[in-house]
Amino acid sequence: MTTPKIPSIAIIICSTRQPRVCPQVASFLNLPMFDESTIPSQIKDSSAYAQPHTRAWSAEISKHQAFIFVLPQYNWGYPAVLKNALDYLFHEWAGKPAMVVSYGGHGGGKAAEQLKQVLQGLRMRVLESMPALTFAGHDAVIAATRGEDLGLGEGVWDGEREGIRRVGEELLELLVDADAAVGGVANE
Ligand SMILES: Cc1cc2nc3c(=O)[nH]c(=O)nc-3n(C[C@H](O)[C@H](O)[C@H](O)COP(=O)(O)O)c2cc1C
Repeated sequence: MTTPKIPSIAIIICSTRQPRVCPQVASFLNLPMFDESTIPSQIKDSSAYAQPHTRAWSAEISKHQAFIFVLPQYNWGYPAVLKNALDYLFHEWAGKPAMVVSYGGHGGGKAAEQLKQVLQGLRMRVLESMPALTFAGHDAVIAATRGEDLGLGEGVWDGEREGIRRVGEELLELLVDADAAVGGVANE
């Protein structure tokens, strides 16, 4: 009898500011600006990457079968550090399910839509529904920016919790189907 392999779902914290509200301890988005000489979609073996930090990033992303992006909105877009981290790789992302949860003064939906398009370009299987968490007014945005404790416990974003749970279940369903074929390799 074989033991089923437990899939690993990584939560990617998409903010690197200090202080920040994006709740997390480990930040593994710690790369210099993109400095590979080859288009990552042409690299099939991570040993072909020129830079050691790219090989380390490749090994980290290769460990996981799906990703949840916790995403702040910056000036109607998503943080540059995230685009940089995404662009380093291609095949490591391709074919894997991605869930996007955005936050901001208006929920961060513009950033989520932009990220979705980029993740689709990386051939990720992005879940259609992207939960958006709206801060409770201007004071809350300022507090968030200062990295203050927003008290995000029971009673906060209750309506959104159900949506997040539902999309999370969709993510798990996609994982069951994890062997689905990866669409093309060429960037458009
Ligand atoms: C550079 C920058 C741009 C921002 N632009 C937006 C924005 O377009 N819409 C919004 O709702 N909030 C915006 N904010 C406020 C963020 O929602 C708030 O600062 C939040 O705490 C950012 O997440 P972080 O603390 O995890 O970085 C912006 C914040 C920063 C630092």
